[in-house]
Amino acid sequence: MRITLTVNGAPHPLDVEPRRILADVLRENCRLTGTHLGCEHGVCGACTVLVDGEAVRSCLVFAVQCDGSSVETVEGLSGPDGEPHPLQRAFSAERALQCGFCTPGFLMVAAGALAADPDLADAPDRIDALVGSNLCRCTGYAPIRRAILRAAREHRARPSGPAVAADHHEP
Ligand code: FES
Ligand code: FES
Repeated sequence: MRITLTVNGAPHPLDVEPRRILADVLRENCRLTGTHLGCEHGVCGACTVLVDGEAVRSCLVFAVQCDGSSVETVEGLSGPDGEPHPLQRAFSAERALQCGFCTPGFLMVAAGALAADPDLADAPDRIDALVGSNLCRCTGYAPIRRAILRAAREHRARPSGPAVAADHHEP
């Protein structure tokens, strides 16, 4: 089937078989390998991307279901000049990653939450739920929680800044 995905602001016309999952199409057709595949059945969250602003496990949706949608991957988080997203800076500052396999998924689920809720810093239970939604085998979760809280506080202090950068990446 012929579909078009807008990925990190850039249109991607694609010919894909209906059976192919969004994660594989992002990785293999769009060459965006920052989206990781862990469990491939919706448990670990490593494959999380934003589809029209909603966090989605890209191993659980077919690419054809996203025809016409806007998809944000971890590659789209940084700014036009490559400056890190506040979440990326916070993950670095709080040492919220070790092997990093889970990190794209945590960044994207947090980016979606930050974009939807400028007051996320006031909702520690919500941050706990976000952290609990994805699996990490290395960090023990506390640094990830601190990093999301740190970025949420920064985002609240500067609410005019985008939670997700867009429209700057060429295909
Ligand atoms: Fe999609 Fe684990 S690879 S949730
Ligand atoms: Fe290794 Fe999370 S940092 S799985």
